Amino acid sequence: MLQGKKILLGITGGIAAYKIPLLIRLLKKAGAEVKVIITPAAKEFVTPLTLATLSGSPVESGFFDNETGVWNSHVELGLWADLMLVAPLTANTMAKMACGIADNFLLTVYLSARCPVMFAPAMDLDMYQHPATKDNINKLQQRGHRLIAATKGELASGLCGEGRMEEPEVMFETIKRFFEMQQRFSGKKILVSAGPTFEAIDPVRFIGNHSSGKMGLAIARALAQQGAEVELVLGPTELTIKHNLVSIYPVTTANEMYNTCMALFSVCDAAIMSAAVADYTPKTVSGQKIKKNEDAWSIDLIRTPDILKTLGQSKTDQQKLIGFALETENGVNNAIEKIKSKNLDLIVLNQLSDPGAGFRHDTNKANLIDKSGQITVLPLKSKDELANDIADALWQLFETSKQ
Ligand code: CTP
Repeated sequence: MLQGKKILLGITGGIAAYKIPLLIRLLKKAGAEVKVIITPAAKEFVTPLTLATLSGSPVESGFFDNETGVWNSHVELGLWADLMLVAPLTANTMAKMACGIADNFLLTVYLSARCPVMFAPAMDLDMYQHPATKDNINKLQQRGHRLIAATKGELASGLCGEGRMEEPEVMFETIKRFFEMQQRFSGKKILVSAGPTFEAIDPVRFIGNHSSGKMGLAIARALAQQGAEVELVLGPTELTIKHNLVSIYPVTTANEMYNTCMALFSVCDAAIMSAAVADYTPKTVSGQKIKKNEDAWSIDLIRTPDILKTLGQSKTDQQKLIGFALETENGVNNAIEKIKSKNLDLIVLNQLSDPGAGFRHDTNKANLIDKSGQITVLPLKSKDELANDIADALWQLFETSKQ
């Protein structure tokens, strides 16, 4: 898997830098090409000579080589890599990466890199817990970078807690798995719906819901990162996604979402419907702003088409269909009922009662329930991680139907 893969290692100034030579050895033994860049502070923890000897390539740390007068091109290095891993990543460099500051060679390479980025933070426990650090980790993850989370244990300060850089062997396995997974959906086209729908009442008012689209965008990103071509039908939300394998179809209403999904589904291998679609829409839309006059006001609503159910009716044996259910009571029974009535292969059940789950949170808690009624109970996790679990479940559905 790693044969010929070009891996760019960025090392910043933390004590955990002493473990990176071991990671370089593992990568080289597996056939990867490795280049190393370090920040000036990192040189205090691990010598460029060690890193250059193990990687078989000169270690870059500055824009100029004063002895030879050669200028090191950050753009070239950024374009060279198939993967960039920054490990250990200090709180300082992480904050700069999150803001786009480019005051050293490593940071300029990071900003020029077009490849996927992984980062392995390492710092003292209070720094790791700090809201600023958490925000920065979130920002990098939302950019699609993969977190190799710090672990708990004894820290260089003598304190014990979360903040230790993951062990080199585990980072090596993570990198190997990343390359294995990167292509597993290649050749597959997957329809994803995300976000809310807005149903106009008059030119200034609408019926909507609290969906931000975060979950659906995370799913689209996870699938594209694993090689799928994604057709993303996106309701009105400020959030978006940029990936060359994701095509976005912006829609506003349930009817527009229905028409767009119906037009796309027949050429897709699967659909994951995570949008929070309005079940009802005003029967008529007033052309002018409705003025108040009576004490009470009622609006006639009519049903919108059930997109998921219609896709379920038209799906072939080869196509896979995953729906969502957001329930406030009798979650499991209702979800199982929806699998049957909508002809789904899998349903992702969210319950609003779970803290940290549902609308607008960066985390979610869900159960995955398959056609046979088997339930996978997942803990509270980031929407990105849940998106990867859903991608795993979809891959499993494709694998099972091959047998
Ligand atoms: N959905 C859809 N079209 C609709 C309504 C919902 O495609 N008009 C999809 C959602 O994207 C989600 C699933 O149906 O994947 C479940 O939506 P939910 O609102 O929880 O359930 P409903 O089927 O609408 O049933 P109810 O509102 O009665 O719970």
